[in-house]
Amino acid sequence: MVKLAPSMLSADFSQLANQVKMVEEAGVEYLHIDVMDGHFVPNISFGAPVMKSIKKHTNLVMDVHLMIENPDLYIEDFVKAGADIITVHVEACRHLHRTIQNIKSHGVKAGVSLNPATPIVMIDEILDDLDMVLLMSVNPGFGGQSFIETSLDKIARLKSMIDIAELDIDIQVDGGIKLSNVKKVVDAGANIIVAGSAIFGADDIQDAVKQFRKAVS
Ligand code: DX5
Ligand code: ZN
Repeated sequence: MVKLAPSMLSADFSQLANQVKMVEEAGVEYLHIDVMDGHFVPNISFGAPVMKSIKKHTNLVMDVHLMIENPDLYIEDFVKAGADIITVHVEACRHLHRTIQNIKSHGVKAGVSLNPATPIVMIDEILDDLDMVLLMSVNPGFGGQSFIETSLDKIARLKSMIDIAELDIDIQVDGGIKLSNVKKVVDAGANIIVAGSAIFGADDIQDAVKQFRKAVS
């Protein structure tokens, strides 16, 4: 089954607990937490303390997307704040294998993310160690950007690589996903869909979740 992961980045931060409750009640599985440091990406969002506060108000799976340099320095903080899955960027990790082992040593799931221009071959040697691959379908840093169409072919190639290796790895896709293109993303092979502006930016957040659910099932 396809899982929905609304990105908290597009929520109204003054109403965070209420908005997260809304998507939870509407039936999403994950809460996608976009952490930006102003170095790896040209934007700053929030860190572990904000996530820790929101964790007290939800039972959703906390899906942490670290768009930061030196992620190893902060993994423990996010584990303590309640992360269930921690994803790091291959472009930000000099010793990716070590970082993955670090994440897993805390008993949380490990994901690796690839920017649009980063080829899938970069994770060839560590595929066996991963719980999830996050393909970026926009250049990371901001919500509300347009989906990069060539991502569809990349998703399909990753999916066949995982199938051929007979591995059980989730494919998450993040960036520019709307009601109008979500089916194509799922048909290409994604099973976890991130949507920020299309869900938290909607006039009726719960209706947006219902429409996404209908579109992917
Ligand atoms: C981009 C973030 C995404 C973003 C998605 O850097 O990783 O999660 O918030 O937002 P939309 O769905 O609006 O593209
Ligand atoms: Zn993200």
